Amino acid sequence: MSSKPPLSIVNHDRSAGEETDPRAPLVPAEAHSPATLIRFGAFYLWPMQRLLLQDNQPVRLGSRALDILIALLERPGDLVGKDELMARVWPKTFVQPANLTVHITALRRALGDGRDGNRFLINIPGRGYRFVEPATVSNQFKPSFPAIPVAGQRHNLPAKVTRLIGRRDIVVRLSAQIIGDRSLTVVGPGGIGKTAVALAVAQEVAASYRDGTWWIDLAASENPQHVAGAVASVLGLELDREKLPANLVTALRDKQMLLVLDTCEHAVAAVAGLVAAILREAPGVHILATSREPLHTAGEQLCRLAGLESPPGDCASTERAHGFPAVELFLERTAACIGEFALNDADAAAVSDICDTLDGLPLAIELAARRVSSLGIAAVAAGLKQPLPLLVAGYRTGPARQQTIRATLDWSHGLLTDKQQVVLRRLSVFPGEFTLQDAVAIVSDRARPDSLMVDEVTELVSKSLIASVMREAQPRFWLSHVTRAYALEKLRESGELDAIARRLPDGSKALARRPAAVPMSYEAPSAIASAHGGHRKQVHDGAKGRSVAALRLVAGR
Ligand SMILES: Nc1ncnc2c1ncn2[C@@H]1O[C@H](COP(=O)(O)OP(=O)(O)O)[C@@H](O)[C@H]1O
Ligand SMILES: [Mg+2]
Repeated sequence: MSSKPPLSIVNHDRSAGEETDPRAPLVPAEAHSPATLIRFGAFYLWPMQRLLLQDNQPVRLGSRALDILIALLERPGDLVGKDELMARVWPKTFVQPANLTVHITALRRALGDGRDGNRFLINIPGRGYRFVEPATVSNQFKPSFPAIPVAGQRHNLPAKVTRLIGRRDIVVRLSAQIIGDRSLTVVGPGGIGKTAVALAVAQEVAASYRDGTWWIDLAASENPQHVAGAVASVLGLELDREKLPANLVTALRDKQMLLVLDTCEHAVAAVAGLVAAILREAPGVHILATSREPLHTAGEQLCRLAGLESPPGDCASTERAHGFPAVELFLERTAACIGEFALNDADAAAVSDICDTLDGLPLAIELAARRVSSLGIAAVAAGLKQPLPLLVAGYRTGPARQQTIRATLDWSHGLLTDKQQVVLRRLSVFPGEFTLQDAVAIVSDRARPDSLMVDEVTELVSKSLIASVMREAQPRFWLSHVTRAYALEKLRESGELDAIARRLPDGSKALARRPAAVPMSYEAPSAIASAHGGHRKQVHDGAKGRSVAALRLVAGR
């Protein structure tokens, strides 16, 4: 785990607009003013004074290494080529590339890169280096010793430990939206990146709220008192427990602030009640929530997050694969585990296959990347034919519900009613997309009238366990790779697998029992269409590569 202090403690008295876009140059040429302070992790860098502090203590760093750090921080997140770095550090002299490596090593040592979970820069072999830790700039004139002031704190946002990949457009859009709309909920399945996106949005808009931006992790709050209590405690309000929700709303009446309610799905009714009261009675308070299902309060705007964009599973071009955020995430996490790492074309196909199979789900991609050090890329891709290892491999840090994919799915599954659990596991026999009629035909039995089944399917979509898309005015549904693997396991445990699989059309029966087998090549769409009740069209024109995954699941054998 990183031992970095939260960025929030240094970010109090800046005015709106001081914070720059994290992808924009931090030290633009025209802005080489003595005023610029760059912060990352526990470090503060004044480029013009050539001063680097860690926890307010000067860091001993050679001049060349400092030049490299400043050059990388001008474009955080971007690849800075070796030649460019050498031209910056040795503008008038030709030097051997080994010199660059020596000073990079010194820089890494000084920053503690690679220790205690820290990862500041990564090497893209043969190309250059990338600064991957989020960094922010402000105009603080003089280096201040010994402490950066902490009075007047206006937010408590947790520090980002890693950079956000591929969600820039969404963050920009949601940041504009939350200023105008008072209630915005980021919805999606576990591990899709709701918390990561909400944090980026909150950081973007933090300075816009007079009374601050407050992050409230609701993972442990289950009843109305706990939810309101968690908000009051973050805001430092001492309120009578018995009258908590009402007193809290009263205390917020004249406030102008953003409350970020993270992880609401298990307390959705309680959160919805509190949010509705706040929206009604505290006109200056805005609510950004994350949840696997909507709060369904009046005025709530929804942003349903999809997976990160992935290349087609057979993309065997390093150049092309690099352009997709799912691949970028996989490569960054792999490099964080095993150090230097270069992608060749053969690996590119396997990595694309992994990202596509996992539907661009960031948590699953991170967990798959962690297995590269022990298995290698090809074996990880092949291993997804047996998804169980992926379901159990995990982090030892982070919230328990996210330490493995299984824990994430257990958390969602545990929030379902018994009926919804039955419906979900029965739907796992579909190897690819299905319509509502398909679902009802497979799932219904005498004890459960069709109309109720429709409600259950709709609920499961709302709770982000079933994915859906409109095509030709018909909703089409599917289970993501990991959800299907999990649900199929539940179906097998229930002893219903054979009976439910028998309800499928003949051509699909053999596919139903396999946990989303993923071959490297697949059958022609016509063969698949006939094997799956004539769904050729839907398989063909799926959105954003989704169809390819469905196609390959359908074809799996
Ligand atoms: N766009 C992204 N770039 C980098 N990492 C991401 C991105 N989205 C999610 N992650 C990582 O994936 C994991 C799951 O994301 P998280 O935001 O916790 O998901 P959720 O809140 O939807 O369950 C976290 O480790 C997070 O840092
Ligand atoms: Mg979350």
